[in-house]
Amino acid sequence: MSSGRVVVFDAYGTLFDLMASVRSVVGQTRDSERLAEQWRERQLEYAWVEMMTGAEPDFWAVTDRAARAVSRSTAEAEALLVAYRRVSPYSDAVSCLTQLGERGFQRVVFSNANPGMLATSVSASGLEEQLDRVESTAPSGTFKPHSHAYEYLQALIGGAPREIAFVSSNAWDVAGATAVGLSAWWINRSRTEFPYPHVSPRSEFHSLAELAEALPCAS
Ligand code: LAC
Repeated sequence: MSSGRVVVFDAYGTLFDLMASVRSVVGQTRDSERLAEQWRERQLEYAWVEMMTGAEPDFWAVTDRAARAVSRSTAEAEALLVAYRRVSPYSDAVSCLTQLGERGFQRVVFSNANPGMLATSVSASGLEEQLDRVESTAPSGTFKPHSHAYEYLQALIGGAPREIAFVSSNAWDVAGATAVGLSAWWINRSRTEFPYPHVSPRSEFHSLAELAEALPCAS
């Protein structure tokens, strides 16, 4: 695939509104917001420690363990895990992806999720028709933000790193992609300051809709 025509998206938190799914299964209380945040923090902590200590990457396993670690009961943990199977897209995801497709871009998902977990989420989100490729970091033997994950992506896509647009709402993901030379675009919905100034994003948008408006036709 000629580079300059590819836009790669992170999945959870970027295309999939995971917090909305958690709220739908746990209930829309202040507590559910905090529970979902604790779960996400623990999930990423477990993934990164496993990555740094040589474990075989298994994002569903760390997601399951993190859910049980932060939940008050097995029933609550099971409810959290259902959220991953029922993710919904952000309200502007379909329109953004459709516009990119119409302008000639290849739309790729690149996620730490295991292939099976990712396929289930893509299907549940209803975005299958708007995505051209769905790729897990798993074959790289590591997780984002490890450089090997993005280098694996670059080998899949081909072309020069700077001609691959990488879109994520996760600052740590944007930092990892920038560090290996990808053109990282940050979806900063909460309008916070980027926490890693040495690897700051090439562009910043406050929504997927804003990103779609800014993107020209594929080169
Ligand atoms: C993903 C999560 C970790 O890789 O954001 O999709």
